[in-house]
Amino acid sequence: MGYNIENYRRVRTMLEERRLSAMATADARLAEVHRLSPEVAEIDRALASTGMQLFGEATRGGPDLAARIARVRADHESLRAARADLLTSLGFSADYTDPAYTCKACRDTGFVDAAMCECMRVALVTEGVRSSGLGALIGRQSFENFSLKYYDHDPADRERAAYALARAKEYAESFGPDSGNLLLMGPTGLGKTHLSTAIARTVIERGYDVVYETMQNVLADFEYDRFKSGYGETAQRGERYLACELLILDDLGTEQTNAFVVSTLYHLLNTRLNHGRRTVINTNVSGEELRTRYSDRITSRLLGEYEILLFSGNDIRMQKL
Ligand SMILES: Nc1ncnc2c1ncn2[C@@H]1O[C@H](COP(=O)(O)OP(=O)(O)OP(=O)(O)O)[C@@H](O)[C@H]1O
Ligand SMILES: [Mg+2]
Ligand SMILES: [Zn+2]
Repeated sequence: MGYNIENYRRVRTMLEERRLSAMATADARLAEVHRLSPEVAEIDRALASTGMQLFGEATRGGPDLAARIARVRADHESLRAARADLLTSLGFSADYTDPAYTCKACRDTGFVDAAMCECMRVALVTEGVRSSGLGALIGRQSFENFSLKYYDHDPADRERAAYALARAKEYAESFGPDSGNLLLMGPTGLGKTHLSTAIARTVIERGYDVVYETMQNVLADFEYDRFKSGYGETAQRGERYLACELLILDDLGTEQTNAFVVSTLYHLLNTRLNHGRRTVINTNVSGEELRTRYSDRITSRLLGEYEILLFSGNDIRMQKL
């Protein structure tokens, strides 16, 4: 499992900015309070010396050491109480000069002891959703709102959909190094994009780097790279489709087939297979048609290395109208 490195950096920077800003606000507030109340300033100087006092007592040692340490601690506590009272009498809350961290658990560092804080995990998931390219779809299409009632016309349709739902869920929840690839096949409006979005959401939440894109846009990005490289530029828009841990390639077969399409698709699928990176593909194209549209090398990879989930039934877009 590896969070997308750019997302990771962005989240670390965001937390660091939060932390520094909380500390800067606290510093400004402290200066303000010290200006208003020399007594608080005096108390703060005394409080700051507690550590040195404890150290001094410890070095001195002696039979009544425990009692002396307890006295220093008690003095410290009463100074803190006096300070809180002073702040309140000035109209401030007792913790007015403490840094107001967004996350109390990790003080906006992102870590509690050595473990990642929940706030950082949530921020990484948010970034993961953003960088996945799923946008608004992710809020609308989940396993929970994937209903089997739309396949009720025909028991065979329903059985296929129920199987696809169960497998997709299982796939997403156990996604990892041993996962395979999925090929969601069937006519329009039957839930292929819906189920693959639900897979993406679950896999992102589990901390993996997921990219969703349509075949047409993937091709456009590779085409852009090819065009730019003619000018000696190395802008690599296609790189993320090769490198992400899970690629959801939507609408395979909607593009105009030509030699560039075939070679790009082969490069994409083959690179991902060779590096053990998983791909989920959605297509309206049938098994036979795959052979005529794409090369044998592509078709044999799709049919051999992908687990096929079939969809059949009546267009759900129409049913919902
Ligand atoms: N089982 C379902 N329960 C509820 N809504 C569904 C279900 N399947 C699909 N939908 C909804 O119907 C619409 C069409 O589904 P979807 O986009 O997944 O179809 P598709 O199979 O990807 O079609 P296409 O081949 O045209 O891309 C979407 O709004 C989707 O959320
Ligand atoms: Mg679709
Ligand atoms: Zn935190």
